[in-house]
Amino acid sequence: ELLPANAAEALRPDLLKAREETLADVALFDAGGEVPSDKEPLDAGYIDLPAKLLATKDSGELADLLAATERFREEVDAFVSLGIGGSYMGLRALQEALGDPLHNEKPASHRDGPKLYYGGQNVDPGVTAGLLEHLENSGVDWGIVVISKSGGTLETALAFRLFREALEEAAGDDAAKRVIPVTGGAGSKLRALAEEKGYADIFPVPDGVGGRFSVLSAVGLVPAAALGLDVVALLQGAADMTERFKTADPGDNPVLDYVSTCHLFEKHLSMDVRILSTWGDRLEAVGLWYDQLLAESLGKKERGALPLTVVNTRDLHSRGQQHQEGKRDKLIHNLYADSPSGPNPEVPSSEANQDELNKYAGKSMFDVLTAARQGTDQAYAEDRRPTADIILPTIDAYAIGQLLQMLMLATTVEGRLIGINPYGQPGVEAYKRNMNAILSAS
Ligand code: PA5
Repeated sequence: ELLPANAAEALRPDLLKAREETLADVALFDAGGEVPSDKEPLDAGYIDLPAKLLATKDSGELADLLAATERFREEVDAFVSLGIGGSYMGLRALQEALGDPLHNEKPASHRDGPKLYYGGQNVDPGVTAGLLEHLENSGVDWGIVVISKSGGTLETALAFRLFREALEEAAGDDAAKRVIPVTGGAGSKLRALAEEKGYADIFPVPDGVGGRFSVLSAVGLVPAAALGLDVVALLQGAADMTERFKTADPGDNPVLDYVSTCHLFEKHLSMDVRILSTWGDRLEAVGLWYDQLLAESLGKKERGALPLTVVNTRDLHSRGQQHQEGKRDKLIHNLYADSPSGPNPEVPSSEANQDELNKYAGKSMFDVLTAARQGTDQAYAEDRRPTADIILPTIDAYAIGQLLQMLMLATTVEGRLIGINPYGQPGVEAYKRNMNAILSAS
């Protein structure tokens, strides 16, 4: 109702053209063809990767990955995953969506796989020192998954040197069995180091798969499998989403439909603040992963929407005021599961009823969450503030695979639609140059 009549229909040819361009990139990539200079770099390799990996489930890369992570799970009781940006956010999204929220709190007998810690995702001396000390004093066998496509990112390299030395000190000759590097090909300093150290399992970030598009490569899959997450179902969800993207018409195509909603509101109503409103704690890290994906992919040439993830109902008590009554620059997408993905406590009745909750006795927490979402949508609608929904049947590995692939494809298509190359991040280089120069000069 807020948009001009027929705006969506008018967008249809552009959407289809953007899909064509996206798929032409895949064909060009597959053929190893020359990349037009205005499209450098061309990282379309993520699009067919899930299907390609699934084809190696019994023999090849995926089989090797599953076997190596199974050995790793037997070898260690805890591991630290080292990586930053696209080499960090994806795993966090998978772990928070699909893992046990109390995983690290539980004894080994009640937990599926080693404890997980993160390092190298920031440069924080106190936190790093604290984690090193914790692992050194933990008395358990611990290991490292180190992830860097370029193999030269300072944050990750520094953390790896610190944690590797501590591990070698603690485990001696066994240390080599407890390190899995995930890195790019020739030119990666991490690969050279890993080969020199004789690490048995080194997994690739394939050429043509950019950092923030790499969650469904070894980058996300190695640590996810080490945690016991169902990586085959993740890949299947993603492969099915790709197929639907390639073949379904607008109106029945989650990728194109999402892009068209975002684009129409931005183009016609200048709503370029894109709120991903997640319901329940499990999807927050998926939202933070998407914040990076959108910001780093399309935040170029002084353009690109501003992504912002909120978690409700928590953030209704913080950002909610601004979303209800602030500037009319926000398009809100609810992201939620249609059914609970685990236990679902009910409001108990109480004889004294001092808190007057008996009127809700028997309602589940999921009912309360659903009512909060519906009530929020209603309040926004009454003030003509637009919302749209991304609905997962439930939160499981298959649905998360679909969702991540949908958002990656949507980001690529949106880039093509607005004339921005979604791959590469030239703006990130400036700080690195300056930081290196400052460190070298002092
Ligand atoms: O999306 C990207 O390419 C970046 O966020 C990278 O993932 C990040 O800079 C880390 O790079 P690397 O994996 O090479 O250490």
